[in-house]
Amino acid sequence: MTTEVSTTAFTGSSELALPSYERPLGVHPPLDFAGYRSTALRHPKHPLVLLPHRLTEVTGPLLGDDLITATDADLTTQHAGEPQGQRIILAGRVLDSDGRPVPDTLIEIWQTNAAGRYRHWREHHPAPLDPNFDGIGRAITDSAGRYRFVTIQPGAYPWGNHHNAWRPAHIHFSLFGRAFTQRIVTQMYFPGDPLLPLDPIFNSVPDEKARQRMIADFDMNLTQPEWALGYTWDIVLRGRTATVFE
Ligand SMILES: [Fe+2]
Repeated sequence: MTTEVSTTAFTGSSELALPSYERPLGVHPPLDFAGYRSTALRHPKHPLVLLPHRLTEVTGPLLGDDLITATDADLTTQHAGEPQGQRIILAGRVLDSDGRPVPDTLIEIWQTNAAGRYRHWREHHPAPLDPNFDGIGRAITDSAGRYRFVTIQPGAYPWGNHHNAWRPAHIHFSLFGRAFTQRIVTQMYFPGDPLLPLDPIFNSVPDEKARQRMIADFDMNLTQPEWALGYTWDIVLRGRTATVFE
């Protein structure tokens, strides 16, 4: 998106000015990107209508952490048996534009299994399902803005965008941030993936530094001996170093 929005919005009475949240120019991918074919069919054809941010948009959601159980953040213990694949720990912080931690933020993730297959009715990839892996997780950031998942390294998968098109391994993320208007839906990638330079979705992000911010760091300190590899990935809700939105 390349549209800049106003920095203030009004509640209607024009008495109370509320902050709104800007989307930095040139950081996020364009809504219509030639290399990513399906965007041609689904991007808006008319200028966006910018709605004022009222109290609901800038103060919600208020989510209780009692909605989340420990199992929600450990995708390897949601069934009777253990899933196939490389076990990984994925952890990081959610930060605002000044680098301050953002606590109490709901993070939802979804991903393929180790073979590159989603558990979804529209999935076409003829790779095996794993009866012990759904690929869905949830966590709420703690008082220091930290989150932590245990999961399985996702696989690459073909996606039919062009001849021999394969998505690099990735995990989808959704965050609500401090407000509905800060919602982020994005993807996290793994370092050293040879498919990254070939992927139109990854490369639809125009800014090189912004692309690099979508790649997690391999973290030997997070890696646990005899058990799991560790990756860290911090998410910045807005500002010059904001994490790229889809
Ligand atoms: Fe995906």
